[in-house]
Amino acid sequence: MDLDILKVKSLSKAFGKLQAVDRVSFTVQPGVVKSVIGPNGAGKTTLFNLITGYLRADTGEITFKGMNITNLPPHELNRKGLARSFQIVNIFPRFTVFENVQAAVISRMGKSSSIVTSAKNVGREEAFQILDRVGLSEQAGYIAGTLSHGDQRIMEIAIALGGRPELLLLDEPTAGMAPEETYATVALIKRLVSEFGLSILVVEHDMDVVFSISETIVVLHQGGMLAQGKPEEVRQNEMVQRVYLGEEITREKGQ
Ligand SMILES: Nc1ncnc2c1ncn2[C@@H]1O[C@H](COP(=O)(O)OP(=O)(O)OP(=O)(O)O)[C@@H](O)[C@H]1O
Ligand SMILES: [Mg+2]
Repeated sequence: MDLDILKVKSLSKAFGKLQAVDRVSFTVQPGVVKSVIGPNGAGKTTLFNLITGYLRADTGEITFKGMNITNLPPHELNRKGLARSFQIVNIFPRFTVFENVQAAVISRMGKSSSIVTSAKNVGREEAFQILDRVGLSEQAGYIAGTLSHGDQRIMEIAIALGGRPELLLLDEPTAGMAPEETYATVALIKRLVSEFGLSILVVEHDMDVVFSISETIVVLHQGGMLAQGKPEEVRQNEMVQRVYLGEEITREKGQ
């Protein structure tokens, strides 16, 4: 039996001469958070785009729940239980928060949604449940574009949950958030795993967040895998310290 929910095997993608993702291999086990870290331009978003069908891989294989999903389009992956959020907020800004989530639920239901329910009510209960789960019930009637940046990012997670995913990929979920929003997002990620059994693959720059949520970490550098392992192993890895954490220190010093 296959115990990994996701398996990435020797995945590569080049843009012209630039090897953006270079023979990357790792697995994600069910019900845990795995983080992908690495300096700017390391290939993290490209890796996500490959896994979620937004880019075609040059070589390599991606297996989800034992199925070969390499190069399947995003909507098919969604149907199979794989969802993502984007590094840049990606919502319908003129619709309400509720409508954004309801649209995601309806999209998942597809043709199976009941023809006896009026369109306005389709997915209503589930959309409200999701908003409750992520802590956005009170903002349900707000126009999405008027929410704070942090709440828009949370709403993006709510939209992804509308697809009832088993595996969720989050690209920098706390980017641009105030500290209390970051804290709430970390709590939400932990809850999605512990209460709802989701598996989560996350790209994150905030090291406090990474070390607090991750079961394991993959470190990318110039497209390749620099290291992977438990947070403590990664923290103590000399190459990681030199290449990645060194850069963090430089950034913190404002150099
Ligand atoms: N569509 C594209 N066409 C050409 N080059 C690209 C494309 N997308 C990404 N790249 C390049 O590939 C490399 C990896 O980019 P990617 O966005 O995956 O990095 P990242 O690790 O997500 O960085 P960041 O931390 O800044 O988000 C970069 O050098 C980038 O400029
Ligand atoms: Mg990126």
